[in-house]
Amino acid sequence: MDHFLYRDGALFAEDVAIADIAQAVGTPFYVYSTATLERHYRLFEEALEGMDHLICFAMKAASNTAVMRTLALLGAGADVVSIGEYLKAKAAGVPGDRIVFSGVGKTREEMRVALEGGIRQFNVESEPELRALSEVASAMGTKAPVTIRVNPDVDAKTHEKIATGKKENKFGIPITRARAVYAEAAALPGIEVVGIDVHIGSQLTDLTPFAEAYRKVADLTAELRADGHDIRRLDLGGGLGIPYERSNSAPPLPIEYGAVIRDTLGHLGCEVEIEPGRLIAGNAGLLVSRVIYVKSGEERDFLILDAAMNDLVRPSMYGAHHDIVPVDEPAPGDLPHPYDVVGPVCETGDTFAKQRHLPVMQADDLVAFRSAGAYGAVMASEYNTRPLIPEVLVKGDQFAVIRARPTYDEMIKRDNIPVWL
Ligand code: LLP
Repeated sequence: MDHFLYRDGALFAEDVAIADIAQAVGTPFYVYSTATLERHYRLFEEALEGMDHLICFAMKAASNTAVMRTLALLGAGADVVSIGEYLKAKAAGVPGDRIVFSGVGKTREEMRVALEGGIRQFNVESEPELRALSEVASAMGTKAPVTIRVNPDVDAKTHEKIATGKKENKFGIPITRARAVYAEAAALPGIEVVGIDVHIGSQLTDLTPFAEAYRKVADLTAELRADGHDIRRLDLGGGLGIPYERSNSAPPLPIEYGAVIRDTLGHLGCEVEIEPGRLIAGNAGLLVSRVIYVKSGEERDFLILDAAMNDLVRPSMYGAHHDIVPVDEPAPGDLPHPYDVVGPVCETGDTFAKQRHLPVMQADDLVAFRSAGAYGAVMASEYNTRPLIPEVLVKGDQFAVIRARPTYDEMIKRDNIPVWL
């Protein structure tokens, strides 16, 4: 459930009319609902109630400082994958001891900054990374808290570009080699092993792969404890999917996911961390765009929007579906018309949807892409020298621009002309 509903014939974000935001900030823009972010965060809190746990929001899904701060105020931690995200989490008010650092390619400089600023743990993904981290921490006269990400070789049954838990993927160390790597970790002077990490993929719509992976983690916990390691923390990654198409059956709920965690790992007495991104932010955000032209082609009609693939890349990158709705509520008798919904970028791939049924639209009408709060703004680029679009946060009847649209002057000034030109 989200807080983007029609009211008196117009789409609202909580108590603010989308058309009013469009008037104030111009289109296209992203808008997030505080109540929806909070609701989704609390669903995970409820799901893990009674277990010692921490919910670390995967900032890669939506890294705006104001979004992170909204969640931090509820007690959320952060899962970061770069020092940029780490510094933003800190700026949002997340204390270092609630930040976990994931990713296959952490640099020594990133390790140093995180150790200096405070970190809950590094989720280490390889032996070379483990050795580098030990060296960096030792040189600083400290020990780095570490979980090692294991690759359980489980098929997450999701899009191949976002599946991470199969042995052919670049992530983690093979679970079959875990005991040897933990033995090495225990012998390194700058490493303090605190637990195990696993993440098998994103947009999972079936709980079976989670259960399979978590059962393997439970077995590994027992083995590593028998080897003398202090496994007190399990980081279970993110990945729970969201409904992108309202007409389709809904994926499992956080409460059901929580039950899988309890069933597979509850007996171990470990502290549990999860790293959800999409489920918290995805349906808490819209991309709002204006129709520039309605163009009648020979075979089909095109809705040409002012948003493009550089603003929301998921449809062209993954063939992803986003529901598109008119901001003016369709009247009951309106007959839907099929449109190819496209952006102005000079590529055929700049297509959001083909033959999508919408009410008959006209130039200047507003549309909203649903489920755009996760992996939307964060994946945007300035391709075609189109400025990154603003982000807006709504809370009740208030809204604020949480990232402004750059001016063309600012964009031009970022380039430098060398002396010889
Ligand atoms: N933890 C780790 C280690 C991850 O790699 C990811 C996502 C998450 C947590 C959060 O997963 P979530 O709960 O959001 O599913 N750009 C793609 C998604 C990439 C996901 C990458 N890793 C998309 O637009 O679908």
